[in-house]
Amino acid sequence: MCGIVGYVGSRDTAQVLMSGLSKLEYRGYDSAGIAVVKDGSLDIRKAQGRLSNLEKMLGDYEAKGATGIGHTRWATHGEPSQRNSHPHSNCAETIAVVHNGIIENYMKLKQWLISEGAAFSSETDTEVVAHLINHFYDGDLLEAVRSAIGRIEGSYALGVVSENHPGTIIAARKDSPLVVGIGQGENIIASDIPALLAYTRDVIFLGDKEIAMLTRDSVKIHDEYGRQVDRDTYHVEWDAEQAEKGGYEHFMIKEIHEEPKVMTDTLKIKDGMIDLSQIGIDEKAIADIDKVGIIACGTAYHAGMVGKYIIEDLARIPVEVEIASEFRYRKPIIKEGQLVIIISQSGETADTLAAMREAKKCGAKIAAVVNVVGSTIAREADAVLYTHAGPEIAVASTKAYNTQLIAIYMIALELARLKKSIDMNEYTRLVDGLSEVPKLTEKVLDTKGQLQRFAAKNFHKGSVFFIGRGLDYVLSMEASLKLKEISYIHSEAYAAGELKHGTIALIEDGTLVVAIVTQGKLIEKTISNIKEVKARGAKVLAVCFEGTQLAEDVADEVVYLPKADDVFAPILTVTPMQLFAYYMSVEKGCDVDKPRNLAKSVTVE
Ligand code: G6P
Repeated sequence: MCGIVGYVGSRDTAQVLMSGLSKLEYRGYDSAGIAVVKDGSLDIRKAQGRLSNLEKMLGDYEAKGATGIGHTRWATHGEPSQRNSHPHSNCAETIAVVHNGIIENYMKLKQWLISEGAAFSSETDTEVVAHLINHFYDGDLLEAVRSAIGRIEGSYALGVVSENHPGTIIAARKDSPLVVGIGQGENIIASDIPALLAYTRDVIFLGDKEIAMLTRDSVKIHDEYGRQVDRDTYHVEWDAEQAEKGGYEHFMIKEIHEEPKVMTDTLKIKDGMIDLSQIGIDEKAIADIDKVGIIACGTAYHAGMVGKYIIEDLARIPVEVEIASEFRYRKPIIKEGQLVIIISQSGETADTLAAMREAKKCGAKIAAVVNVVGSTIAREADAVLYTHAGPEIAVASTKAYNTQLIAIYMIALELARLKKSIDMNEYTRLVDGLSEVPKLTEKVLDTKGQLQRFAAKNFHKGSVFFIGRGLDYVLSMEASLKLKEISYIHSEAYAAGELKHGTIALIEDGTLVVAIVTQGKLIEKTISNIKEVKARGAKVLAVCFEGTQLAEDVADEVVYLPKADDVFAPILTVTPMQLFAYYMSVEKGCDVDKPRNLAKSVTVE
């Protein structure tokens, strides 16, 4: 949801800002803009639409040694347009502001500022911040920003420059991510790490309500009361190359190919046992757990749904999975000390973060499954199990989901062992099975040629139904989301046995149905459901384990997975489903990595 960047140093600031924004474009691409303080004056340039429009507008514009901020927008307040593009400024255009988040009380502030003489030129909530800072400014920019954020309600990551303070950037955040990169004779801010990796791998994660003042040679951080505070510097392990396409046509296909490696990196097995020592599990407390909550959004929520099925199956503990945006506004029933698992790739999703805080307030113990080290959810949780997916750039999540599943399976197996709901032989068999999954996924990647050919023949379909039973049903939910996100084809996931209770009315000649048929005990049942849709003219693509007998009258095309225990089917099935969505999107000519209307990290409600 919007990306911000800021740079102070001796390089060509315009170029640093543009390169940073190109790494943040996944956060929104309705417009882009930069503001630089150059030769004592503020210069703002912005363009509606993709970053490439701004790039064209800038031509050979240079701003060597200038101080600047930049923004790529995902519109919330005000349509995507030139005048609503960031950076925004005060009337005299002496102060410029970029913002990621939502100022909830902006209407009230706007009316007050207008009564004080301010004239607004956009419909955005952000513009009030520029006018507010100007209102409080009396020569001290840091103090003016501090006073301004004392008046605003909502969420923000802000970058501020002023022509009266060349060589200084003020940055502040609350509930929206902001990273400060510490360089040599240069410093940088960004919404996410990939934007600053070309300059440094030493970063500080700004805390909530903290304000940073950056010059070329210093970074000073203050709390909301103006006291200077020390913050730890993290060294980022992955390098800039990992956030590049590396010869692939799109980030999404590159990231799908990384799945075997990142799943191996996430798996923690020592001497044949799952090793969760890194999250400091209190084994006795776990043995007492009688209910688990899982909260997440989007793809992470779907990983949570798989979690429910396998934790209940293996550990025999009831699990409630909730969408974060629903959970946060209900009166959740949570017992003091209850385990709540939060799943989030970014660790910054606004709804998930708010739901986690809500659960904490109710006394829950929070274990977070997070990909981004040092993110807000990781910092506020009681325990963190990091997935090691590395940077995921494509807006549609792929490899992060696979690693979330690995994490969830590890938790399920540990709960099962500690609860003694499975015996040690079964535990060992399943741990071995889980450790084989990355290798099997290498084989699954071989299905891409088949799926590409299938997509070439079927990309014109207007609607696709995904059906399955048990684990196949929960995996269908993610398969369907992937397809609709990036190919804009309407699609639904249905429990195969439920289809006949209404949705089957939508099946007509040529409707495409993807049937996932991996669960041994349920195969015959699902085959009956496939026959029901075939009888009504559907075209069926089936996914099943090698050795499953699916006659041609049952499915038109079959994708075979290498044999594994049924319990691991979701992790093996998701890769061909991601490939299917990918090739459908490519065939349709869609923008695979940056689907319309979406953003990767949703830091607004
Ligand atoms: C957005 C993204 C999804 C993602 C969801 C949750 O909607 O487009 O791909 O699954 O947020 O994100 P998180 O970072 O919390 O996993």
